Amino acid sequence: LASLEVDLSGIEPGTTVSVKWRGKPVFVKHRTEEDIKLANAVDVRSLRHPQDDWERVKKPEWLVVVGVCTHLGCIPLPNAGDFGGWFCPCHGSHYDTSGRIRKGPAPYNLEVPSYTFLSDDKLLVG
Ligand code: FES
Repeated sequence: LASLEVDLSGIEPGTTVSVKWRGKPVFVKHRTEEDIKLANAVDVRSLRHPQDDWERVKKPEWLVVVGVCTHLGCIPLPNAGDFGGWFCPCHGSHYDTSGRIRKGPAPYNLEVPSYTFLSDDKLLVG
């Protein structure tokens, strides 16, 4: 399937759902106010892969990223690591609540796939 529809209605704030799209996991995280605040409280110039949070989301409460570590391709764990986002156990990469690399060997932020909101609780990935 080229595109994948995701029902957002049951995803509680603070939780991440993993769906499969084009053979890869895609993480859909319902961010809390705190997640959003953290994502915007960073000096972007200090980041390895400088991107503002607003460049990475379409709606602040939803973060959609490809769940593949940009180091060597392991699947990072949600709600883990030093920055409240993801932790990749393979070699210790820490991603923040915007999916940006903050510590460890990964060179880039988690990739943002193309997606659109079909309605308030329907997402189309791809
Ligand atoms: Fe994730 Fe190496 S594959 S840190």
